[in-house]
Amino acid sequence: MQTISDGPRRRGAVSLCLLLTAGPLMPAQTGNGVSLRIKADQITAKMPPTFHGLMTEEINYAFEGGLYAELIRNRNFKETVPARQNRQNPEQSRAAKEAKDLVNWSLVEERGGVGSMELDTATPLNNAVPASLKLTVSQASGNQSVGVANEGFWGIPVKPDTAYKAMFYAKASAGFSGAVTLSIMSNDGTMVAATAQVPKLSENWQKYEATLTTGNVKASAGNKFVLSANRPGTIWFGFVSLFPPTYKNRVNGFRRDIMELLAAMKPQFLRFPGGNYLEGNTFDTRFNWKNTIGPIEERPGHMDDAWGYWSLDGMGLLEYLAWCEDLNMEPVLAVFAGYSLRGQRVRSGPELDVFVKEALEEIEYVTGDTNTTWGARRARDGHPAPFHLRYVEIGNEDYFDREKGSYDARFTAFYDAIKAQYPNLLLINSAGFSAHALTTRTPDVDDDHYYRSSGEMAAKANDYDSRPRNGPKVFVGEWATRVGSPTPNLEAAVADAANMAGLERNADLVMMHCYAPLFVDVNPGAMQWTTDLIGYNTMSAYGSPAYWAQHMFANHVGDSVLNIVASGIPYREWQQMPRRMGGPPGSAPRAADTSGLTRPTPMPTPIPEMFFSATRDTANGTIYLKMVNRSGTPQQVNVSISGLTSIAQAGKTITLSSANTSDTNSITDPHKIEPVTADVTGLGTEFTRTVPANSITVLELNGR
Ligand code: AHR
Repeated sequence: MQTISDGPRRRGAVSLCLLLTAGPLMPAQTGNGVSLRIKADQITAKMPPTFHGLMTEEINYAFEGGLYAELIRNRNFKETVPARQNRQNPEQSRAAKEAKDLVNWSLVEERGGVGSMELDTATPLNNAVPASLKLTVSQASGNQSVGVANEGFWGIPVKPDTAYKAMFYAKASAGFSGAVTLSIMSNDGTMVAATAQVPKLSENWQKYEATLTTGNVKASAGNKFVLSANRPGTIWFGFVSLFPPTYKNRVNGFRRDIMELLAAMKPQFLRFPGGNYLEGNTFDTRFNWKNTIGPIEERPGHMDDAWGYWSLDGMGLLEYLAWCEDLNMEPVLAVFAGYSLRGQRVRSGPELDVFVKEALEEIEYVTGDTNTTWGARRARDGHPAPFHLRYVEIGNEDYFDREKGSYDARFTAFYDAIKAQYPNLLLINSAGFSAHALTTRTPDVDDDHYYRSSGEMAAKANDYDSRPRNGPKVFVGEWATRVGSPTPNLEAAVADAANMAGLERNADLVMMHCYAPLFVDVNPGAMQWTTDLIGYNTMSAYGSPAYWAQHMFANHVGDSVLNIVASGIPYREWQQMPRRMGGPPGSAPRAADTSGLTRPTPMPTPIPEMFFSATRDTANGTIYLKMVNRSGTPQQVNVSISGLTSIAQAGKTITLSSANTSDTNSITDPHKIEPVTADVTGLGTEFTRTVPANSITVLELNGR
């Protein structure tokens, strides 16, 4: 964030309060500005302790090659079907065919060394990894060598003065006397960035570890990881792993640059593991949590067919929880609820009981002490202390289950079983508010999802103001303004902020929200879903303007929501584009939605251009006033604050803006749009500020 200094501002008169933000529409502003009245002694809601959070799933290579720091792609040789981008890349496809389906691995013959490699199903490491990589060195002596190279996820990142931790399982044929050399080298083999040696191999499967440390090398992505030998013989590799330094040095942990971006957002919870990823296209490809725990070499991995690529499941249940621990987030655990994306479902009976039991065991794995079966298993997996869990979501977007009563019956079975054993857990209805899918049990929380254009986001940003308060609390478990690719632009960020002002004003009802999707790998072929909060490639990561909008709100929260009334808000005409039918309004398109129908084009409607919310930190008196201006011109805001003894003249603004709404951040221009912090004076119980066109402003006032 940059900091600049701002001079005194003109004080202005305050007009009378005429309009609640959610009240009847006003004519367009005539030039006197918007009038804002904040009643600082009227608290309309307490900020929930889990208001701003993160939502995550394996989409857009979120963990594979993303947050999960493993650098070896196809480390257990199971990814035999070329992933989507490999199919798009003929060179890689050819390489895969030549390697007899050993995707992402290739043979390296150096200085006259001769050999071959193949997938050997007769020599598996264990039941989870039913094949090994067999390297046959037929000719190698002196400086000749033969090896296998892994291309990584769009390259192996080389950084200077960095220690990489390698681990592999191997065994050698009888009489093999050579060493195994581990190297990180450029793809053309001309630059070796780091190297290490394992002097001798056993004839039985054994685990080997080594550290490869780079010196003063140039940072680059076009590198491979090579395991090679310089003596004839056969070596079987059962599993190969390579990690760079991770966040807080966690073993099997997370990429530092992405974690630092997340930590700066101060997220309070994490919703995981999906999303569509939880459900899979079929039961067989769901997130089957039991296959994701334990030693990484014993995890079979699975096809993430919801998003079309292989998941190693290195990012397993315990890693999601570790991620929560690293960033001090509360876990919001979504359990598989017997329904998959292609419509496979079990409504009730013994088949559903299997999944209910699976969910109960999962909860025990997360929360049970070491006297419980699954708590003890978690301890064996390296985490004796139970995790604190309050929220469990039953399924994901179950409004897509069109079979009448199906979710109602399934929710009831999960609800009754979970509440019987864990009465304090709060259960989330994944069918959301709009579907009214539940009649038999009342959920503790409804999960609303919406992906919108910027016009629609603005049009609906004040909707929670009039939502009935007599039902369950609301969790906005997925939402985003979808403008910009791969990451949202300023237009999207400003519309997001409009929505967040509405969420914050309604924090008595809305207890949590999280943007989705969180991540996108911007390397070619990695993205399945445009408009994602954080982008990265092999070398670096950046926050989109929408990331900064989230950052601004989550870093200026306070504990109380204040009564705020705005009048004189400018409006613009907006017409909703016709949209495919299927799911509740604003829901994401799903693979299962094949209706192809569109909604009739609605009439143009006036929508507000400005949005506000105010919160207060009662401990120190700070008021955070958020002002969002979607219009293309600067807007004057006349503020009047009552209910406090005084407001200091000096305060601070944090502003996100840019010349054009299409301006954005990218992997090559990561800092183009970032919040600017400025000291301001001329504040008080009555003052006027002008906010820039297309902007988000947090005004920090020091009250007493
Ligand atoms: O966020 C992308 C997808 O949108 C999620 O996986 C799903 O829950 C929603 O339909």
